[in-house]
Amino acid sequence: MRIDVLTIFPEYLAPLELSLLGKARRQGLVDLHVHDLRDWTHDRHRTVDDSPLGGGAGMVMKPEPWAEAFAAVRAAGRAEMGEQAQPLVVFPNPAGAPFAQATAQAWSEREWIVFACGRYEGIDERVYEHLDAEGYEVALASLGDYVLNGGEVAVLAITEAVVRLVPGVVGNAESLREESHAEGLLEYPLYTRPAAWTDPAGTLREVPPILLSGDHAKIAAWRRERSLERTAERRPDLLGPAPTEG
Ligand code: ADE
Repeated sequence: MRIDVLTIFPEYLAPLELSLLGKARRQGLVDLHVHDLRDWTHDRHRTVDDSPLGGGAGMVMKPEPWAEAFAAVRAAGRAEMGEQAQPLVVFPNPAGAPFAQATAQAWSEREWIVFACGRYEGIDERVYEHLDAEGYEVALASLGDYVLNGGEVAVLAITEAVVRLVPGVVGNAESLREESHAEGLLEYPLYTRPAAWTDPAGTLREVPPILLSGDHAKIAAWRRERSLERTAERRPDLLGPAPTEG
């Protein structure tokens, strides 16, 4: 998978070099390119923003650097991957569709994602129109109903969620199937040794005996029940609308 990131803060993406993603890069499973949007400006101050036309608070990102950046990144990617290669362009945006595990799963099967990090109040609307007209596939993705200062933190989160699902990146595929949200439920409680533990307050805490029984079918059923119970308690929205009377 190829990932390009367009940002005015390339250093912000440094954590992508670490841990899981760093390993995926070294293994050749993910090819990451972080670009400074200001490289596509032509004035002395490398200007990427201006005041909103019509008035209002804050600044708006100018269209020209974005258009040039997308053209350059698409050309560079196609030079490597072939002229038919089609990136998915993702704009992290609080007004986008909620990013969820199903999104991560779908995007982990993509050959190429270009993340475009907006800052300030937002990006000139004509950038989206232009990308549409040029045949780019565009998605707006929100991490949640709150506002960050820019898309960079969202790109870190989205990239981690997507890349760990790329085959070969997480060693144990089984662990991906069982984790929270994999099947639309929260994960069951986990325990390890010692089976009987006296906590610092002196209370003996034992693991549920069924986990020591060796009966795999019973353990699976028990875990499923705990998953359902936990989901109902913490995230009833995941179980769908409550049945209505009548
Ligand atoms: N940019 C600013 N806020 C955001 C959010 N909640 N999700 C994704 N991108 C954002």
